[in-house]
Amino acid sequence: MIYFDNNATTQIDARVFEAMLPFLKNMYGNPSSVHRLGRIAKSAIEVAREQVAALIDASPSQIIFTSGGTEANNLALHNSNGLLAISAIEHPCIAEPAKCKNAQIIPVNADGLIEPEAISKLIKKRPDFVSIMLANNETGVIQPITEIAAQLNEHGIIFHTDAVQAVGKIPVSFSQLGVQMLSLSSHKIYGSKGCGALVVDKSMAINPLLLGGGQEQNLRSGTENVAAIVGFGKAAELAKSELETRHTKMLELRTLLESELEKLPRVTIFAKNAPRLPNTTLFGIDKIEGEWVLLTLDKKGICVSSGSACASEGQEPSPVLLAMGISAEQAKTAIRVSSSHHNTTADVLQFIEVIKSFGV
Ligand SMILES: Cc1ncc(COP(=O)(O)O)c(C=O)c1O
Repeated sequence: MIYFDNNATTQIDARVFEAMLPFLKNMYGNPSSVHRLGRIAKSAIEVAREQVAALIDASPSQIIFTSGGTEANNLALHNSNGLLAISAIEHPCIAEPAKCKNAQIIPVNADGLIEPEAISKLIKKRPDFVSIMLANNETGVIQPITEIAAQLNEHGIIFHTDAVQAVGKIPVSFSQLGVQMLSLSSHKIYGSKGCGALVVDKSMAINPLLLGGGQEQNLRSGTENVAAIVGFGKAAELAKSELETRHTKMLELRTLLESELEKLPRVTIFAKNAPRLPNTTLFGIDKIEGEWVLLTLDKKGICVSSGSACASEGQEPSPVLLAMGISAEQAKTAIRVSSSHHNTTADVLQFIEVIKSFGV
């Protein structure tokens, strides 16, 4: 099998799995318990907090563990009390809660990028809170978050970024980005599903979504998913120490894939000229539906996605591509290849051979 769907989820790293195991077996204490098993669990969470903080250049007290990226994003948006603004290309777990808050939508250009003028225009509407993703899950396009933060910070507007896809693939520094909140997810960086974090600038007083036992500094009640948090910490530690080698490997594969795809006359690579994640290529084959390509590749043991995992259940064209001005017809051709450092040149070449067999 060839797995090219790492933006949907990643395979848990064997070292992460090993780190988690004791907390699923013998070290099952509740971190709120005062006895020794409780204390072991509590201190394991604190180690993980340090590891996650180190990955993104934040301080441990800024990390609030959640059940994943979706909860982190919902928690962030819960803290907009005035006019909320989000980009037109956000993940559904930002776009859907934003709908309930009648959010302003910030447009992107044909490359999938937000232009400074769009932010200047937005500022005139006096939003209290802006959420713009760092890297897009479908196209891989990386937004100029530092520049946008400089514009927004001047006006005291709270700025949140969904860094779920960026972290572990490119260097991400919470302190340098200039945002007040940032979302993370463990299963995108070879950790387990069901775990993530919201990173919050401590100068901000935030309101929790979940009320109860007061865990996570009163900001996220609920007994902690200790094993998953420990795994997230280990995954973060590995992502930090291996970032450069992983990046180099993924970029090598992407360069090979795209140079081969470009030889095929019916292929279009979306957002080709924008700064993008090293592992992501979104492309379409003229007049062939992405869904058909996905299913045909699946029969040959190759896993890809046709747009985002959530969108792939429906036949609707990707809102991300529509926002870039791409026609609905062409958007429906989209196929996403998202690699990991575990993929090989042979994987890419085999993939290309199958694509060529479609007579493109
Ligand atoms: C950009 C982005 N944000 C948030 C999420 C949601 O994260 P989780 O699956 O941990 O809820 C995803 C998952 O696909 C994503 O790609």
